[in-house]
Amino acid sequence: MSLNNDRSYKMKLRDVENAFKYRRIPYPKRSVELIALLAISCTFFLFMHTNKLNSRLKEMEVKLQPSEFSALGLTGGNNHISGHDAGKHDDINTLHGTYQYLKSTGQLQHLTSSQLNNTPRAQLETIFFNRVTKTGSEKMMELLKILAKRNDFVARRDAEALYEVVIMDPVYAKNFLYTDVLNSSRPNSYTKHVAFLDFDALDEPWPIYINLVRDPIERLVSWFYYARAAWYIADRYQTFGAAYQMPDIHWVRKDFNRCINEHDPECIYEQMEMGNLGDHRRQSLYFCGQENKVCMPFNSHEAMQRAKQNVEERYAVVGTWEDTNVTLTVLEGYVPRFFKGAFDEYYAMRRKLGNFNRNAFRPTLNDKTRAILSQNLTREIEFYQFCRHRLYKQYIALKMDRDPALREFN
Ligand SMILES: *[C@@H]1O[C@H](CO)[C@@H](O)[C@H](O)[C@H]1NC(C)=O
Ligand SMILES: *[C@@H]1O[C@H](CO)[C@@H](O)[C@H](O)[C@H]1NC(C)=O
Ligand SMILES: *[C@@H]1O[C@H](CO)[C@@H](O)[C@H](O)[C@H]1NC(C)=O
Repeated sequence: MSLNNDRSYKMKLRDVENAFKYRRIPYPKRSVELIALLAISCTFFLFMHTNKLNSRLKEMEVKLQPSEFSALGLTGGNNHISGHDAGKHDDINTLHGTYQYLKSTGQLQHLTSSQLNNTPRAQLETIFFNRVTKTGSEKMMELLKILAKRNDFVARRDAEALYEVVIMDPVYAKNFLYTDVLNSSRPNSYTKHVAFLDFDALDEPWPIYINLVRDPIERLVSWFYYARAAWYIADRYQTFGAAYQMPDIHWVRKDFNRCINEHDPECIYEQMEMGNLGDHRRQSLYFCGQENKVCMPFNSHEAMQRAKQNVEERYAVVGTWEDTNVTLTVLEGYVPRFFKGAFDEYYAMRRKLGNFNRNAFRPTLNDKTRAILSQNLTREIEFYQFCRHRLYKQYIALKMDRDPALREFN
């Protein structure tokens, strides 16, 4: 039995709802965690093989939507920009729409990638990937492992633990940085589910922040069915033993559309509420930061603004698998030291692992449900669109830098 196999299984275990600590953990708690971990790690070991396929499937879960990579006509050798679809995609949430927007506001001519490049602001040769739940981060972790060999760095992740500490007090955070993040003498990447840490406030040098986002409504649906999957329930039973109450069959068979329409308490997304942390409804929390008062109220304007500001000032790249090619190109372009070759390595990895359709069992969301949810997730959606818009801008700037002739098409 190899430790590597064990790792991907444990990774999954830690996605367990109850295993997330969104409340501040007073220091010191680590020793307790470690003892608990040691005590049960042997059990995990035996269970892992039957779960290998499932965990692989999970890696591929994120739905790959048709990307608009080629909408600009900028792909491959074809540098022709067609004016025909101007106005057709004038939504700034598409690559093409972003291009049109930049053009119509006169920003295109002056756009350069250096304006959008936070990498030079970093003070450490460390990629800090504070991965958001349910965005396909495991796939990125696999890619980082492959790139580490190719680009000569060390791909690291958080130590195994029974739960995830997403919110930390400053003393805990400082200790975490010393023992886990800042202790590598070589260029490296470090991955963990943790809300944005302000390295200035902690009086430590800035790493190169990266992250992934996903459509907020898709994330909710994904979690809803993930928590109901038979193998997931079996995992929880295995992890928590007798302390775990098996869910009843009506709960397991619940349909998300009905859950919303029938005002099931599980599917209410109250504005500004501080609770309901288990379903990971707050994507913006990972970018807003550690301040509960600002970052916890659900769908709050202030949390969204803080999250946007951190992305703009501190993140090298916030990508999405919904735009795989754009994300990979932007990572390569803005963080070449670590992501050179990412595009090719990603597709080589895909060929090796296969392209599972993981959503086969997932019922679709109807339009009415989507509309109801959109009303209560306005800021989450706005934040997500902000990230995509910035990603497209970074991508377009790269293309403009590399081929100045493209500006002539204005
Ligand atoms: C992304 O790149 C791959 C590999 O070059 C290509 O096969 C695929 O068609 C591209 N996808 C989109 C949506 O452009
Ligand atoms: C840094 O910390 C991690 C996590 O505690 C540990 O696994 C690793 O061995 C440490 N590395 C060094 C170079 O001390
Ligand atoms: C939407 O938010 C309002 C205000 O907090 C709340 O009353 C309502 O139940 C929420 N609806 C859903 C479907 O979450």
